[in-house]
Amino acid sequence: MISRYKKDFPVFENHPCVYLDSAATSQRPASVIEAEKHFYETMNANPLRGLYDLSVKATEAYENARRDVAEFINAEEPERIIFTRNASESLNLVAYSYGLSNIKSGDEIVTTVMEHHSNMLPWQMVAERTGARIVYIEPDKEGFIPDEEIRSKITEKARLVAIGHVSNVLGVKNPVEKIIERAHKCGAVVVVDGAQAVPHIQVDIKQLDADFYAFSGHKMLAPMGIGVLYGKRELLEKMPPFLVGGEMIESVSLDRVTYAEIPHKFEAGTVNAAGAYGLSAAIKYLKEIGFDEIRRIEDSLTEQIFDGLHKCEYIHIQGPEDPKKHNGIISFTIDGVHPHDISSILDGDGINIRAGHHCAEPLMRFLGVGSTARASLYLYNDEEDAAAFVEKTLNVRRWLGFES
Ligand code: ALA
Repeated sequence: MISRYKKDFPVFENHPCVYLDSAATSQRPASVIEAEKHFYETMNANPLRGLYDLSVKATEAYENARRDVAEFINAEEPERIIFTRNASESLNLVAYSYGLSNIKSGDEIVTTVMEHHSNMLPWQMVAERTGARIVYIEPDKEGFIPDEEIRSKITEKARLVAIGHVSNVLGVKNPVEKIIERAHKCGAVVVVDGAQAVPHIQVDIKQLDADFYAFSGHKMLAPMGIGVLYGKRELLEKMPPFLVGGEMIESVSLDRVTYAEIPHKFEAGTVNAAGAYGLSAAIKYLKEIGFDEIRRIEDSLTEQIFDGLHKCEYIHIQGPEDPKKHNGIISFTIDGVHPHDISSILDGDGINIRAGHHCAEPLMRFLGVGSTARASLYLYNDEEDAAAFVEKTLNVRRWLGFES
């Protein structure tokens, strides 16, 4: 059956393709594209500065977007939402601001071998500069983190725990609730990289009790260049700014500066108000469809792909055996074929997947593969996409001259 949501996405009309790379970036519905255009056409001025009507409109659009994001993830108050460029910038903000001021030599930073580089390199930087030690949690063969790893790796020495909510390679949802509970018992703060979670599952930040939570707009139908950092008020208030400059101050003299209150203290320079306005439109679209429906689509297509690919013993799907544990992400290898070749051959048939190490080189080493091919689904994919992907993937080896 053809997706009833596909028609909302102009790219499929302009560039017909089977788009299976939504974990890298999603497509945008017309309502989001229109929203960004509407901002520039009707309320474009520099927000937070001008005292004239147009600038006030831009400010209102920007601050309303902050409220929409707070409500979407059930944050206690909009002031805890900081707009950034993307999840990477959000995680760097925590590392440079919180990490360098609070982590000391001998402390432990706990993370996992399955992190995206965005949630690994900032902590390697903090460890290098402070003399802290990084402790790595390891998942089991299917990608699940065992309770024993949580208990043994997060100890009283841990000051910070950095964990991805959903793996961008395996699709596994990590037990962040258990990790947060354990970390808090040990006196550590927890930073969650939610880039692959927020587009696919309902995140309730209050219930989760994460200290920091980062995600990107561009993976959840919003424009590129707008991201979010949620932080607890008591932590954000004590943290120094990450970037300094325009519009993040209370007052400045030649030798003294008083910074603005949160969240503006962390938003130096002209902000991406049009992107934030687009993010609001993306949230509205996602809410109208609902996460139950998104889950239903992704699970049934993952199952269809699993059934198709499992016909061949030379195709190996990484991660959980249960398709319902993949959150729409299917990483795989084909014996004798480089993942780049898989991607190029499928591209010849208009099928777009990602191939490589997926910015998770340590995980590739842990899995014992150099790289993988990855198909990732979203709400606009349908049975026809999944069928085309399976058919062409089963043909890749023959295309290269293998007998089967
Ligand atoms: N983080 C994105 C991915 O996994 C780019 O593809």
